[in-house]
Amino acid sequence: MYYPDDVIEEVRTRNDIVDVISQYVNLKKKGANYFGLCPFHNEKSPSFSVSGDKQMYYCFGCGAGGNVITFVMEYENYSFAEAVKLLADRAGITLPEITYSREARALSDLKNTLLEINRLAANYFYYQLKQPNGRIGYEYFKNRALADDTIKHFGLGYANKVSDDLYRYMRSKGYEDSILKETGLFFIEERGARDKFWNRVMFPILDVNNRVIGFGGRVMGDGEPKYLNSPETKLFDKSRNLYGLNFARTSRAGYILICEGYMDVIAMHQAGFTNAVASLGTAFTSQHALLLKRYANQVILTYDSDGAGTKAALRAIPILKEAGISVRVLNMKPYKDPDEFMKNLGKEEFQKRIDNAVNSFMFEISVIRSQYSMQDPESKTAFYNAAARKLLEFPEKLERDNYTEAVAREYMIPLEDLKRLVASLGGRFGTGVKPAQDEKTRIRPKKDKEDGIKKSQRLLLTWLIERPELLAKIDGIIGPEDFVDGLYQKVAGLVFEELRKGKVSPAQILNQFIEGEEQYREVAALFHASLSESLNNEEQKKAFSETVKKIKKNSLEVQSKKAADIAQLQKIIRQQSELATLQISLDGI
Ligand code: CTP
Ligand code: MN
Repeated sequence: MYYPDDVIEEVRTRNDIVDVISQYVNLKKKGANYFGLCPFHNEKSPSFSVSGDKQMYYCFGCGAGGNVITFVMEYENYSFAEAVKLLADRAGITLPEITYSREARALSDLKNTLLEINRLAANYFYYQLKQPNGRIGYEYFKNRALADDTIKHFGLGYANKVSDDLYRYMRSKGYEDSILKETGLFFIEERGARDKFWNRVMFPILDVNNRVIGFGGRVMGDGEPKYLNSPETKLFDKSRNLYGLNFARTSRAGYILICEGYMDVIAMHQAGFTNAVASLGTAFTSQHALLLKRYANQVILTYDSDGAGTKAALRAIPILKEAGISVRVLNMKPYKDPDEFMKNLGKEEFQKRIDNAVNSFMFEISVIRSQYSMQDPESKTAFYNAAARKLLEFPEKLERDNYTEAVAREYMIPLEDLKRLVASLGGRFGTGVKPAQDEKTRIRPKKDKEDGIKKSQRLLLTWLIERPELLAKIDGIIGPEDFVDGLYQKVAGLVFEELRKGKVSPAQILNQFIEGEEQYREVAALFHASLSESLNNEEQKKAFSETVKKIKKNSLEVQSKKAADIAQLQKIIRQQSELATLQISLDGI
């Protein structure tokens, strides 16, 4: 924790969430809550709700949720400490000096110094670009059709020909070798020190908070390596940062364009496509996907049109889909990359390509198609078979049929024939399903069950918070330990503890998870399982009882798998049989 808990709590409670969010979003009162258009995703009808009682917000459309602090973090893209500072200022609270543990302080000091050095280096490169010696770099960018504004916007620069220029500059500013070593900007050896980057045009790499975390440098002309990049440092984790995301995150286009390189991002932004980002030559990772998921549910891949670009797209598609992002692929042909496309055909044509981008499945089919010749009957048949097998990856019949139709239309295959082929390939294994699908149907119910139990746990926590008197009804039957998922268990522990003391403040509980980066979203969602089911009628009372039993039953199952001895197992079995006849009466509620 940067600040003591009570300080954070004071900052939070002195900033009413409805007041704060009203400054950013037009809210209308509806029942106990306020509703407005969600600022975190594109929507036409309001699904963003703010609860004054809970001091929380939640979007039923995109799942964004949290308390007043997370709102400021998300909206302003602030770190936790920055958001607390803004809200403290707003409420006229003077914050104490930040308190760190010794290691935390050391690491944070180190990171801050590295950021300081990077910032200085970026300014230095930018300054060099404007010097007579940097003319060559400036001309290079001009030849690549970059406007002065663009150069400034991206902070582009030039590392000159003197091999230890930046090093001497940093020493003159008082930085020691021990810290300069950690920046990745220098080679520091016994016999002397050299700059990593020299005689290259420079691209500072910024994180989403606009902090310089690394650099890329390009040779001006031919030469190897074409691009040189900062190594990973305490600041720079390549699998967690995307070039251009600091700008793209506020574009609100509703989707993100993903490309391969620096110049592609810059060319697209210059043309007005400010929602473009690049993974910079490294493979696209699931961390990248999770990072993107915070800003958009849809992406369009604009990788290079060559073999490597196609491969990269095929690799990225399942990673993105796994994160719940829908993917389309843009056709760049006959140009190699967005930069070249923009230079040759311009932004109107690019917009058309965006509009015509195909969904990722149809893209995958087209890649398969390119591996076969349609002139040769045998090869053609092989393509139909391959396409049919690919179609079998859809476990849902309806979805499979829709795609079968689309493929038949696109490749002019008689629909009935393709359908029959899909069915017969699917049926070849006797059971009527192909192995891949068989696997899926085996895994699915388990996943559905897990989701169901998580949902029950969320419901119960939401109910408990809204009606604290319910605690008495379940005391002795169910406890925090019955919430079997780690995160849920922790939250349940806090909820039960506070309930015993009196009233629960979900927004306060959330504070404990804010610095865990992504967790608070899940915790926020957890408190919003239901706003409508308020246990007013018999049916809902029955649902409450069922929910409690379901959670307990699952908990006992989990326990029985872990049981260490017979005595323990017998106890669990006894509890299981008691559970079967359990009645929870909600009379008087
Ligand atoms: N890259 C890299 N190291 C290299 C080559 C490429 O890190 N030796 C990364 C860079 O981030 C680059 C991206 O991969 O921007 C795409 O590479 P490539 O397609 O070769 O370059 P372009 O982006 O087309 O670069 P340019 O237009 O400047 O030639
Ligand atoms: Mn290029």
